[in-house]
Amino acid sequence: MDDRTQPAPPCALVIFGGAGDLTKRLLTPALYHLRRSKLMPENFAMIGFARTDLDDQSFRAEIGKGLAEFSKSKLVAADRDWLLKRMHYVKSGFEDPAGYDALKALLEKANKEHGTEGNVLFYLATPAPAFAPIVEQLGRAGLVTHDDTGPWRRVIVEKPFGTDLPSAEELNRRLQAVLSEDQIFRIDHYLGKETVQNIMMFRFANGIFEPLWNRDHIDHVQITVAETVGVETRGKFYDSTGALRDMVPNHLCQLLTMTAMEPPTRFNADAVRTEKAKVLDAVQIYRPEDVARNVVRAQYAAGDVGGKHVADYLKEPNVAPDSATETYVAMKLSIDNWRWAGVPFYLRTGKALAKRQTEVAIQFKQAPFAMFRDTPVDSLPQNDLIIHVQPDEGVTLRLSAKVPGPTVHIGGVEMRFNYKDYFKSTPSTGYETLIYDCMKGDASLFQRADNIEGGWRIVQPILDAWAKAGKVKLPTYPAGSSGPDEATALIKRDHRRWRRIDRGPDWKLSNAAE
Ligand code: BG6
Repeated sequence: MDDRTQPAPPCALVIFGGAGDLTKRLLTPALYHLRRSKLMPENFAMIGFARTDLDDQSFRAEIGKGLAEFSKSKLVAADRDWLLKRMHYVKSGFEDPAGYDALKALLEKANKEHGTEGNVLFYLATPAPAFAPIVEQLGRAGLVTHDDTGPWRRVIVEKPFGTDLPSAEELNRRLQAVLSEDQIFRIDHYLGKETVQNIMMFRFANGIFEPLWNRDHIDHVQITVAETVGVETRGKFYDSTGALRDMVPNHLCQLLTMTAMEPPTRFNADAVRTEKAKVLDAVQIYRPEDVARNVVRAQYAAGDVGGKHVADYLKEPNVAPDSATETYVAMKLSIDNWRWAGVPFYLRTGKALAKRQTEVAIQFKQAPFAMFRDTPVDSLPQNDLIIHVQPDEGVTLRLSAKVPGPTVHIGGVEMRFNYKDYFKSTPSTGYETLIYDCMKGDASLFQRADNIEGGWRIVQPILDAWAKAGKVKLPTYPAGSSGPDEATALIKRDHRRWRRIDRGPDWKLSNAAE
C-alpha cells in the first residue's frame, strides 16, 4: 500500500454543481480539513462549474462563507486563503458544449499556473439526471482521455445512482461508453465513515471473532439506520424517492456486505469489491408474495422528536397530501450461502425516529440451559456484539455474569470500546478520505458497477410489488417513536425482538431489546 500520510499528487478538482449545497457544506470544508492535515497537494486548483451567475471573485466569497459556517474546526486564515486562491469558476449549463470548451482552456491555464500536471478529478455534485450528459460532454470535449502513462482523469459520481435496477444499469452503460471502469468512482458516503471501514478491520484483523462469524454461532443480525430528522427541506426529492431507494441499495447494503462478506485475499479495491458483490449475489431475491411477508413500510405521523414538534409527513412542504411514499422500511433478508444460510438479517431505517442510531448488532445463539435447570435462573441474557456506527462510535460485547450473592443469579454486563477513548478524532465531514483516496487512485471505498447493480437487484422486486399494489394508505408511526407496530410484528413472528432505539445513552442492559 502507498503511504497515506503523504500529500495527494498534484491535480485539479472540477466540481459540477460547484455553486450548490454539497460543495459548500461538505466538499470544500473537506478540502480545507485535508489541507490542515497536510494531505492536499501543494500544486492544486479547484474549478466550480455551474449555471449560477458567479465569477472567480464571487465564487471565492461564497465558498469562504461556507467554510466559516461548515468547517468542523476553527478557521486558520492562511489555510483558508491558500485554498480560496486556487479556486476558479465556469458559468455554464451542464449540456452546453461552449462551457466545456471554456473548462478545457481553464484547465490548461491551471496546469500552467498551479502545476497540476494535467491530472484532473471531476466531481459530479449535481442532480442525478445531469450525470450521464456531463460525462458525455466531457468525452466529446476530449477531457477524460486517459492512459496508464499520461496524466490521469477520474470522475466521482454522487448518489443517487439510478432510481431502480434498469436505470442504474443504463447509467452504468452510459458512463462506461465514455470512461473505463477504473476512472469511475461511485460514492457512498457511508464508506467514508471510520466505523464502517472498521467493520472489516474488526472482523479480519482479530483472530477471535471470525471463527464464530457464521450460522453455527450466530442467531441473527440486525442492521439499523435510525434518523431523528424528518424530510425538512427535501420534500420534493424525498417524496419521489422514499426510504427504500434513499437508504437500502446503498447505505444499508454497505453495512450488510461489510458484515457478511468473506475475507478478501488482499486489501485492495478489486479483491474487496469482488467479495462484496458475492454477498449481494447470494441474497435471496424475493417473489411478490415474499415481499408482502418480509417487508414493512410506513410513514411518520405528527409527534415529538427530542422535544421538538414534527409535522405529519403528509403535511411537510413539497410532499403530496395523499402521498404513498414510505419514510420507514424494515425487512428480513436471507443470504443463501454456506456461511449464512438460515441466519436472518433484519434491516430497518426510518426518518423522525426516537434517536439517531446506526449500528450492526450480531446476536449469538443462546448457551444451552441444562446446567441452570435447578437454579433460580429462568433465562440467560443474550450475547450480542454491537458495532456502533453513529453517533457514538465503538463496539459493545454483551455477556452474562453471575450477580454477586449467595444465590445463583445471572445478569447482563457489557464490555465497551469507545473510539474517542483511544483515538483523537480529526475534524471531518466524512468526505476527506473519499476525496483523498480518489486523488491517490485508490478505489477500495468506492462502488464498482456490479456492487451498485447488486444492491438494486435486491430492492427491485420490492419496488415492483409496491408499484403493482398502487397508491395505498400506508401504516403510520408517531414521530419520535421507534417505528410502526408492523415492524415489531415482522420480527416477533420469528420470536425475536428489535433492539431499542428510544433510549438515551445510559440505558440499562437488562432491557436492551423492545
Ligand atoms: C443520504 C440520504 O444519502 O444519507 C439522507 O439521502 C440521509 O436521506 C443521509 O439522511 C444519512 O446520512 P448520515 O451520514 O447522516 O447517516
